[in-house]
Amino acid sequence: MRIYDIILKKRYGEELTDEEIEFFVSSASNGEIEDYQITALLMAICFNGMTKRETATLTLAMARSGDMVDLSAIDGYTVDKHSTGGVGDKTTLIVAPIVASLGGKVAKMSGRGLGHTGGTVDKLESIEGFRTTLSGEDFLNQVNKIGLSVIGQSGDLAPADKKLYALRNDTATVDSIPLIASSIMSKKLAAGSKGIVLDVKTGSGAFMKSVEESEALAKAMVEIGKSAGRDMVAVISNMDIPLGNAVGNSLEVIEAVETLKGNGSADLTAVCIELAANMLTLVTGKDKETCTEMAKGAIADGSALEKLGQMVAEQGGNPDWIYDTSLFPKAEFEYEIKSETDGYIEHMDAEKIGVASLLLGAGRNTKADEIDFAAGIILKAKTGDKVAKGDTVATLYTNNKTKFSAAVDKFNEAVKYSQTPVEKQPLIYSVIK
Ligand code: URA
Repeated sequence: MRIYDIILKKRYGEELTDEEIEFFVSSASNGEIEDYQITALLMAICFNGMTKRETATLTLAMARSGDMVDLSAIDGYTVDKHSTGGVGDKTTLIVAPIVASLGGKVAKMSGRGLGHTGGTVDKLESIEGFRTTLSGEDFLNQVNKIGLSVIGQSGDLAPADKKLYALRNDTATVDSIPLIASSIMSKKLAAGSKGIVLDVKTGSGAFMKSVEESEALAKAMVEIGKSAGRDMVAVISNMDIPLGNAVGNSLEVIEAVETLKGNGSADLTAVCIELAANMLTLVTGKDKETCTEMAKGAIADGSALEKLGQMVAEQGGNPDWIYDTSLFPKAEFEYEIKSETDGYIEHMDAEKIGVASLLLGAGRNTKADEIDFAAGIILKAKTGDKVAKGDTVATLYTNNKTKFSAAVDKFNEAVKYSQTPVEKQPLIYSVIK
């Protein structure tokens, strides 16, 4: 078999056989073909797409290119969630404890932030002492003991995806549905949970800017998961505006805690309840309405907050920080952005707000960058809200004062005002099973 012939076949829009796709993935991971050949095939896939079968084969080949996590030692139904990434998305910190407090087994591997999107691992590391690296045995033992562990991606999970993703990033071949679906699902399948709920984001802060594209991506991922024997649900949710009011690591942990205490913003709470309820339908087999009430109950009776505290304690963190969030160190400097007009917020570009937060020190441009855990943004108004001239729209936080200038410019670029009322956008567009 020759990679040349495979590239040519896809260039002419023909369907590749399972053997050809498996040959491509194994020779790409073993360094037996050149990067320019890999990227030529990726570009041909971008132009000509892949069938469902081709996408499923590509996903499984990438999943099997490294470790397949074995969760069979966990007693109970293992359930995972994955967000396609966004700004202010702290849902894992809320949803995972809710589900675990109601009997689901959440053995979750999360990522770090890169670019304008944040990562759960960085958020958790803003808690004093919290360890995001555990041995495989400790990880499984903890999930058996308290039903919940969130760690960084460990071992050699889907190395073929790592290789392909790095090349896609550099060659404008990221936004292809079969490539995104196989990339995300290869890691989810390798991570081992029986049930998977996908939070597919749509809008200005998401990979997929339109609801139609997001639904097509969600359908592709649900089909891949089902064909691999997993229980699947995908929720299409709004990422045109940042989720909740906090953007930045410790600010988001504090907001997650407030949400678990029942004091969260309406949008963040609603998205978390939707995700948790869908996970619980898989775990319990009960209907969605019942699971929604169960999820709300776990917030109301404090059991979900207690579960987060247990996880923090088990992973070496100081649980006092969860019960008293004033213990999180504050940023030394803050800057208030004021509305220059009477009117309404017409649009708040989530990606630009994410970049503003990154410029304050909350994120990374490259993997090696250090994070300022206290840096970030608290939004006081969002799309659709009425503001008066001089009202605070947001407060920016950093430990490095020189970062304000670029961050303020980026924030102002993100916000558009209108003199007439603005319709609020939906939070959840659809649920795909
Ligand atoms: N996230 C991934 O893991 N892969 C993609 O291709 C896009 C987003």
